[in-house]
Amino acid sequence: MKSRRREFLKTATILGSGAILLSETRPAHAGQNDRKPAAPADLLQNPTLKTIHSLRSIHGNFTDRTIPDAALQAILGACVRAANAANNQSYAIIAVKDRKKMAQICGYSGSCLLVFCADYNRMKAEAHALGQPFDPGNMEFFVTASTNTVLAAQTAVIAAKSMGIDSLLTNGIHRDDMTRLWTLLDLPEMHCFPVVALVLGYPTAEPPFMMGRLTGTGVVHDDNYHHLTEAEVGELIQKYDRPAEHLALGDGWGAKGYKHYLDWYFKEWATRNAGEESQILRILKRSGFVEATKG
Ligand SMILES: Cc1cc2nc3c(=O)[nH]c(=O)nc-3n(C[C@H](O)[C@H](O)[C@H](O)COP(=O)(O)O)c2cc1C
Repeated sequence: MKSRRREFLKTATILGSGAILLSETRPAHAGQNDRKPAAPADLLQNPTLKTIHSLRSIHGNFTDRTIPDAALQAILGACVRAANAANNQSYAIIAVKDRKKMAQICGYSGSCLLVFCADYNRMKAEAHALGQPFDPGNMEFFVTASTNTVLAAQTAVIAAKSMGIDSLLTNGIHRDDMTRLWTLLDLPEMHCFPVVALVLGYPTAEPPFMMGRLTGTGVVHDDNYHHLTEAEVGELIQKYDRPAEHLALGDGWGAKGYKHYLDWYFKEWATRNAGEESQILRILKRSGFVEATKG
């Protein structure tokens, strides 16, 4: 781990805040998949871009420090500013401060947990009060609400980081037995779906490196969708194998006998939640977002 960190630090800059920002130096092996940085260095000094480039997830190791209430209110106030379809704000954000309850909800705990749910119950109550018919029971409503919800969640991530508060997003809330959330949070069963949870807090230690990202071929397409060639796919596969890229979730795949990281990923990681789709479909049917077929 130490040598990986040293290798990483060779191409990284430590910002004043202690956050690590990847330098713009292209690695020696950079190929056609590597897109030049979109912005010159001076533009990356823009405080908003600096905050975004310093984002990295903290995987569960948060201190006991409390987030000041004013900061939490600032995060909540900022996240609802995210754009949302028809200005419906078709979400509910549940702020949980009890650490034991956070762990029960998502397996992680920090200073605060925000559970972001796609939710139409507020709108349903408004429509009901006015005697207006309103039925958000289809996939279009679900996709729209989920989009609104994740935009608010990511805005919360950025707002928090701008105040030195780190975070972890997890969708573990709709894995396993999601029905426990209805009990733990007293969620409405109809037209409410917990999309993602955001753990907020202060890390006990800096992560040893920042995860890398693909930025070029296969991610950003100019003008039209670019269908990958075999050579491009091969290059992408190799890119995940290079430790300095930090694209892989871990480095134990070689020792396990895999030729490529993605061999391990598709064989062991991508299949680990097999059956989840039917679980989510069952929940969506129960929540009324997907019509349950008879028989
Ligand atoms: C929808 C979603 C679900 C995630 N779920 C988890 C999770 O359950 N546990 C975890 O440790 N990290 C989780 N993450 C964090 C990702 O693993 C992390 O964002 C990714 O590896 C890139 O690392 P970075 O955020 O540090 O750049 C999740 C992120 C997203 C957006």
